[in-house]
Amino acid sequence: MKQHQWGMIALGLVVFVILITFPFWSGKGKTSPQPTLSFDTPAIAQLQEKRCVEDTSFMRDNHMKILGTWRDEAVREGKRFYTARNGRVFEKSLSGTCLKCHSNKQQFCDRCHNYVGVKPTCFSCHSIPEEVKK
Ligand code: HEC
Ligand code: HEC
Ligand code: HEC
Repeated sequence: MKQHQWGMIALGLVVFVILITFPFWSGKGKTSPQPTLSFDTPAIAQLQEKRCVEDTSFMRDNHMKILGTWRDEAVREGKRFYTARNGRVFEKSLSGTCLKCHSNKQQFCDRCHNYVGVKPTCFSCHSIPEEVKK
């Protein structure tokens, strides 16, 4: 084979490697856009103070732990009410409390979970309020 043909093959290989690895290096340093979370629900619209059970940043980091604790305490110990740090009282319930305010599960819980790639398996048993209404 002639010299310049080897050159073309080498060039082709270089281009190929760059293209195939593109998804890995092109995203470096950039952050993909955060999902838009919607708080547009009737229950949240009625709140005087737009607050979750606890502070927003605490909820963001710890809602899974809260739910786990709520389940254990409600089901095993029969303690069905939770007093928040600022004294408000909530029923320890996934569908009855979280999804009462966040009744737009798809535009809220699901959006964030899809983004981070978590799939809570709670809803094979727990009802999603909107679905019940239908
Ligand atoms: C296999 C079925 C099943 C799955 C899956 C399941 N649960 Fe439950 N859960 C129950 C049952 C049954 C109760 C008892 C209902 C009661 O006593 O009010 C309960 C109660 C609860 C309670 C307290 C009562 C209430 O109204 O919510 C919480 C909180 C809870 N589960 C959270 C979760 C979370 C979070 C997940 C997912 C990580 C989950 N559960 C997955 C069956 C399930
Ligand atoms: C009384 C209504 C209400 C209840 C009940 C409630 N939330 Fe919230 N939640 C809100 C509001 C309002 C915000 C937004 C607060 C803000 O703007 O800072 C929020 C914020 C959040 C956030 C943070 C979102 C973000 O910006 O990153 C998470 C996560 C969350 N809620 C999960 C839950 C879970 C899980 C439950 C049940 C344990 C729950 N919420 C119960 C009203 C509620
Ligand atoms: C701002 C993003 C965000 C929002 C909004 C959000 N979650 Fe999550 N959720 C997460 C992340 C991240 C995890 C995984 C945490 C981990 O793996 O440690 C998670 C995990 C969970 C888990 C535990 C799943 C498991 O299999 O262990 C439950 C249950 C849960 N979320 C319920 C909810 C509910 C109900 C809502 C809506 C009311 C909600 N989350 C809204 C980010 C969010």
